Amino acid sequence: MQTISKELPKDLDQKRLPRHVAVIMDGNGRWAKRRGLPRIIGHRQGVDALKKLLRCCDDWGIEALTAYAFSTENWGRPHEEVDFLMALFERVLMRELQEMMEENVRIQFVGNLAVLPPSLQTQIDRSMNLTKENTGIQFTVATNYGGRQEILQATRAIATQVQQGHLKPEEIDEALFSRYLYTANVCDPDLLIRSSGEMRLSNFLLWQMAYAEIYITDVLWPDFGREQFHKALSDYQQRNRRFGKI
Ligand code: FPP
Repeated sequence: MQTISKELPKDLDQKRLPRHVAVIMDGNGRWAKRRGLPRIIGHRQGVDALKKLLRCCDDWGIEALTAYAFSTENWGRPHEEVDFLMALFERVLMRELQEMMEENVRIQFVGNLAVLPPSLQTQIDRSMNLTKENTGIQFTVATNYGGRQEILQATRAIATQVQQGHLKPEEIDEALFSRYLYTANVCDPDLLIRSSGEMRLSNFLLWQMAYAEIYITDVLWPDFGREQFHKALSDYQQRNRRFGKI
C-alpha cells in the first residue's frame, strides 16, 4: 500500500496557506457516466474524495473546510437520486463519526436542516453534539443550503431584533451581520475550489465569499486528490490578494 506523506509539500509556504477552504464538488455524475456506471456510484466516490481532502487539510494545517453537499436547488433532481443522497449522508455520518472523533474533527451542518429526513437530522444532531468540543479542523457541510436563503434568514432575525427594540438600525454593520449567518463561528473562506470546469458560484456562501480566491479545475470531483489540492494551493499562493486595495 502506498504511504501518504503528511508533510506539507516543500514548495508551499506554511505561513501563506488559506485558513479556510470551500469546495463545490461537481462532476460526480459525469465521472460515473464516463465509466458506464449509475450516477449514485459517482456520489459514493465523491464522499471518498471529500474524506481524503479533509484529512489532507488537517495534515497540512488548514483550519477549516466547507463542502457544498446539497443545495436548495438540488431537490429538483430525480427523486431516486435525492433519496439516495439523503441516505448516503446519513450512512456516511454513522460510519465516519468514530474516526472524526479520533481525528479531533469538529463537524457542523449548515442550511435549512429542518426539512431534511428526520433520521438524517438525528445523525446530524448527534455528530454535531459529539464533536462540538473537538479542537481540530472545523468541517462544515452545507446541506439544503442556499446563500440567498441564508442572507434572508439573517435579515429576518436582525429585523426582529430591531422591531423588539434590542438593536438600532445604525448598529447593523458587516461584523454584526456575519454573526447572524450559519457560519458565524468560522472565518470567511480564502479559497474556493470548484471541480469539473464549471464557472459559477451556484448560490454558495455568497456573503462569505466576497474576497475569496476562486480556483476552477477540469478534474471531476471523484478524481480530486492530494495532487490536485497541491496545485490549487500553489496557484493560490501566487495570487496577490488585495481586498480592493492597490
Ligand atoms: C455534484 O455532482 C455533487 C453533489 C450533489 C454532492 C454529493 C455529496 C458528497 C460527495 C459529499 C457528502 C458528504 C457528507 C459528509 C455527508 P453532480 O451530480 O452535480 O455531478 P454532475 O455535474 O457530473 O452531474
